[in-house]
Amino acid sequence: MNSFAENLFNEDDKVSSLVVEGKVDTRHGPILYMEDVSVSFDGFKALNKLSLFIDAGELRCMIGPNGAGKTTMMDVITGKTKPDTGSVFFGQTIDLLKMDEPAIAQAGICRKFQKPSVFDALSVFENLELALKTNKGAWNTLFFRLNSEQSDRIGDVMETVGLSALAHSRAGILSHGQKQWLEIGMLLMQEPKVMLVDEPIAGMTHQEIERTAELLLSLQGERSLVVVEHDMEFVRSIAQKVTVLHEGGVLTEGTMDEVQNDPRVIQVYLGG
Ligand SMILES: Nc1ncnc2c1ncn2[C@@H]1O[C@H](COP(=O)(O)OP(=O)(O)OP(=O)(O)O)[C@@H](O)[C@H]1O
Ligand SMILES: [Mg+2]
Repeated sequence: MNSFAENLFNEDDKVSSLVVEGKVDTRHGPILYMEDVSVSFDGFKALNKLSLFIDAGELRCMIGPNGAGKTTMMDVITGKTKPDTGSVFFGQTIDLLKMDEPAIAQAGICRKFQKPSVFDALSVFENLELALKTNKGAWNTLFFRLNSEQSDRIGDVMETVGLSALAHSRAGILSHGQKQWLEIGMLLMQEPKVMLVDEPIAGMTHQEIERTAELLLSLQGERSLVVVEHDMEFVRSIAQKVTVLHEGGVLTEGTMDEVQNDPRVIQVYLGG
């Protein structure tokens, strides 16, 4: 084996041994655990001793005014931003602060950005196939051939995100909402244990919003979801436990009714 190939294998080994050694252990509680996490940008505290626990399989909604730290929280979980202080664990044993972005993604935490990044020139099916390849590492991509189990999985994912009828259509012709669902499908191909979704319904039609609510609800259980969204009607339609962030920390948590009737929450939203 030449050294280039050796390096590729070593890369893969590192990642997989990390996942096996630190197997996600949720027997004693949350799948995602943040404690006293602080992040400063030029002295400004975007996160201020944020503590957060997400249970395995739950769908958590996060709300809070602009600048509350919601996106920064996702940046910390996915390894894009390293906090100044605090701890972030995946299950009981995996210390996310010791891992870089690719390793965190490989371990099973994935993120849906606002802007869909699907490949317009490829079909829906091909986009999902590509997501599968991307997950296999560079070496395997080189020799990748889709087996029947994998193409069945692509079929299942298309079914889940409601795009089966468009399997062979170019992604470029999809509506904005359909592109968002395709991207969610691409994340699902990587079999994440935690999905972070930042403002999923921006720019969607009313019908697309309803369909997105159903989709997100259907995804919980097998995996945990953390959904950040400003649209309160949408949040209400999917909400179980809601966390309100404010000035980089948790203001309160509870059901949608509890948080919406909390005077502190009303103050934060109305007081500006
Ligand atoms: N890379 C950065 N450099 C400097 N300041 C930043 C950076 N990222 C975020 N901030 C600041 O940190 C604060 C929290 O930002 P963040 O994007 O996490 O808020 P948010 O809750 O996602 O807001 P929104 O609802 O508007 O998306 C904001 O005041 C923002 O300006
Ligand atoms: Mg944000």
